[in-house]
Amino acid sequence: MCGIIGYIGSKNAVPLVINGLRNLEYRGYDSAGIAAVVDGKLIVKKDVGKLDEVFSKVDISNLKSNVAIGHTRWATHGKVTKENAHPHTDCKGEIAIVHNGIIENYQELKKELESKGHIFRSETDSEVIAHLIEEGMKTKNFVDAFNEMIKKIVGSYAIVAINKDGKEMIGARKDSPLVVGISEDGYFIASDVPSFLDETKKVIYLYDGDVVVVNKKIVIYHDGKPVERDIDSIEWDAEQAKKGVFKHFMLKEISEQADVIKRAIMQDDKIINEIANEIKKSKGVFFVGCGTAYHACLEGSYIFSKVANMHVNVTYAHEFPNYVHFLTPESLVIAVSQSGETADTLEAIRAAKAKGAKVISIVNVAGSTLVRESDKVLLQHAGPEICVLSTKSYTSQLAVLTLLAYSLAGRLEEGKSKLKELIRYIYYLTSRNTRDYIRKLAEKLKDVKDIYIIGRDLQYPTALEAALKIKEVSYIHAEGFAGGELKHGNIALIEEGTPCIVFTSKENEKEIISNAAELKARGAYIIGVGPRNNEVFDFFIKVREAEEANSIVQIIPIQILAYQLAILRGLDPDKPRNLAKSVTVK
Ligand code: AGP
Ligand code: GLU
Repeated sequence: MCGIIGYIGSKNAVPLVINGLRNLEYRGYDSAGIAAVVDGKLIVKKDVGKLDEVFSKVDISNLKSNVAIGHTRWATHGKVTKENAHPHTDCKGEIAIVHNGIIENYQELKKELESKGHIFRSETDSEVIAHLIEEGMKTKNFVDAFNEMIKKIVGSYAIVAINKDGKEMIGARKDSPLVVGISEDGYFIASDVPSFLDETKKVIYLYDGDVVVVNKKIVIYHDGKPVERDIDSIEWDAEQAKKGVFKHFMLKEISEQADVIKRAIMQDDKIINEIANEIKKSKGVFFVGCGTAYHACLEGSYIFSKVANMHVNVTYAHEFPNYVHFLTPESLVIAVSQSGETADTLEAIRAAKAKGAKVISIVNVAGSTLVRESDKVLLQHAGPEICVLSTKSYTSQLAVLTLLAYSLAGRLEEGKSKLKELIRYIYYLTSRNTRDYIRKLAEKLKDVKDIYIIGRDLQYPTALEAALKIKEVSYIHAEGFAGGELKHGNIALIEEGTPCIVFTSKENEKEIISNAAELKARGAYIIGVGPRNNEVFDFFIKVREAEEANSIVQIIPIQILAYQLAILRGLDPDKPRNLAKSVTVK
């Protein structure tokens, strides 16, 4: 679930691993740690908190080693404590492991190991890995014992292990990402490319079931046999994955949205048209995704309906099992995901493939599992999204879905020019002018308890996404509704001064203004977002009319609002509590 980085080579591994962990901070974590081999001994330093806190508590300044592994933990099993932080070691402290994911059969394994005399120091599922290797090493070498351990564990994992000899570093993956970085002086094994982008752009994406052994060279095994894997070159550079002049990744990524839309338009027409043809040919299309990607799917269904007169089914990827029995080899599942590693989304497409259905994905991260497992892929080319919150990846997904809808309608060029016209405007929307204006609103709202958000038609998914953004980063309770829905019950929650954001458009102005008036009559403070001001609004954010692209332009001011609420409430927008960038557990 969280971050892993290991290095073996001729440089000092400790600063490389710590720098790698810093580059992985965006994934969201609760504790961190590192293990290195110094003079034939394993040294483990770990604690609860952010990297700076952890490494101010534990002294690592004099650690020098040619091999080290590091971890940022997002707890699944066992509380957030120093003992539960990774790396974990065996009884003798001679083997260290880091693990992302969940070992489902850890309870049985732990009992068995305890009966053999192993002493456990943490409440995690992960610790069994170290003890299983230790048990195996009673009769085998490190690599064979690692392989035997892999056969015993059930669940999802990315694992990296070292032992006190410091001769090799071993990694394995199943349902959790793991990549190998190849630099001139050594090798990295990591959960995510940005962790080692400062050192190399040469990578090998491991497949599920791969075990990689790295020492002076690298050997990858699958089902016990050595296999060849391609070496890819990353198109992102280290600078793109850094904050640059921006204070936070969230603000940087919000500000990149004009360029992101530009890149989405530069998609190869051939691929867009090919995918549109697959959509036409299929009997039944399902859009699946989670969180923000699900909102893009829902928004996409409105865009497909309006532009291409086509119905698509939309479900959360984790609810998709309820619909799998409708699938046939003529069905098409379109999965939307920034990371391409979301466990729920991967499970949905695997279920679809098992039914013989076709799978097409809209993904940002090239080389991700979703890319590899799909029949066809449309890459978003939005660049690395580091902040836990999806911002630019959302608008980029909307742009891609809009292009697909226009291609389906046989009007791709028209779709492109509509989006092209918006680019300059999006620059304005993300400029300091808009930010300063929205800050006034953030100052008014920073201490409120709840925010309600409504939109009709295309702006209903925008309301859902707006609420998610506000909640994730400011921890203010926010809820989005379809404009017509609030009066069916939730209006009971409106009190004097309750802030309500209302998305409007030319098409639904009359109806949504009536809904806003209903809220105002109950004392709500109305914030209008749309092309025209209205007397019912107490605060107005003007966003020009963009028809189906309203969903792209209207979310931007609310992303900015969410960011500013976090800042004014003293929170770090790049590291929201309890969240992880890519959710690789079910
Ligand atoms: C939204 O800001 C994210 N925190 C989250 O909801 C995300 O969109 C979801 O987990 C799906 O991720 P994916 O796009 O990488 O599949
Ligand atoms: N399940 C492990 C734990 O709770 C790993 C969590 C993670 O992926 O960070 O420690």
